[in-house]
Amino acid sequence: MAQKIFVFSGKGGVGKSTVTAAVSKSLLYCGKKVLCIDADIGFRSLDLILNTGNQAVYNWLDLMENRCDADRAAVSAEGCPDLLSAPNNYSEKITLESVGEMLSRLDGKYDYIFVDSPAGCGALHEIFARLCDRALLIATADSVCVRSAETAAAKIGEYNDGLDIRLIVNRFNKAEVLKGRQLNLDDTMDAVRVGLAGVVPEDRTIGNMSGGCTLSQKAQSAFNRIARRITGEQICLDPKTL
Ligand SMILES: Nc1ncnc2c1ncn2[C@@H]1O[C@H](COP(=O)(O)OP(=O)(O)OP(=O)(O)O)[C@@H](O)[C@H]1O
Ligand SMILES: [Mg+2]
Repeated sequence: MAQKIFVFSGKGGVGKSTVTAAVSKSLLYCGKKVLCIDADIGFRSLDLILNTGNQAVYNWLDLMENRCDADRAAVSAEGCPDLLSAPNNYSEKITLESVGEMLSRLDGKYDYIFVDSPAGCGALHEIFARLCDRALLIATADSVCVRSAETAAAKIGEYNDGLDIRLIVNRFNKAEVLKGRQLNLDDTMDAVRVGLAGVVPEDRTIGNMSGGCTLSQKAQSAFNRIARRITGEQICLDPKTL
């Protein structure tokens, strides 16, 4: 059975789709079968970051409504996980039952299923949060983002109190902390009140993932460490080697 991981944030543009793509690729390199579901209805972006080009003819609403099977709906580029694209429009047929039924059809085919959500916490978040086993909360270490992350974590926790929520601090930059423009990791964790799953540096190669850029060693190892923690490996969270 696949482990289902819900990726969410308070504020938008903090790196949910980027982190989803990079961590799933790391899991793929560990030999895992991985599917990413783009849940950002109307604003999909994972197809660009995972370089699937024009391959996607169907999206997960088509799969849910039996217009295609999973093999036709999921597409992938070389070295990338499978992707189920987001529909362009919301449908009232998206319910806890219909999405749950779709996920159960995909369950046996994958080790991990990531759900990349839009920012905030609406009805769609409630559906996916209730159907997932764990969640990754993405935040940058500035006070505005951190406050919204804490609010989002509380809300998502209300939707599913069994959900194991962990924080990924993205775009972390020690120089910005020293200048007082970013919070340090302890203050970020204290404010969000969620345990840490990993830290991703601010990195030009991460910003260019959709252009097919190879990740820097520092960026790649940050994502690899998060992926290994997801598989249950005990990888230390020493600030020097985050
Ligand atoms: N660690 C990083 N270093 C540099 N650039 C980054 C990093 N993480 C993300 N970015 C860039 O930040 C921008 C927003 O990232 P992304 O689209 O993943 O955010 P998002 O949270 O999914 O946004 P949305 O809320 O709109 O779905 C992108 O241009 C991405 O390349
Ligand atoms: Mg996104």
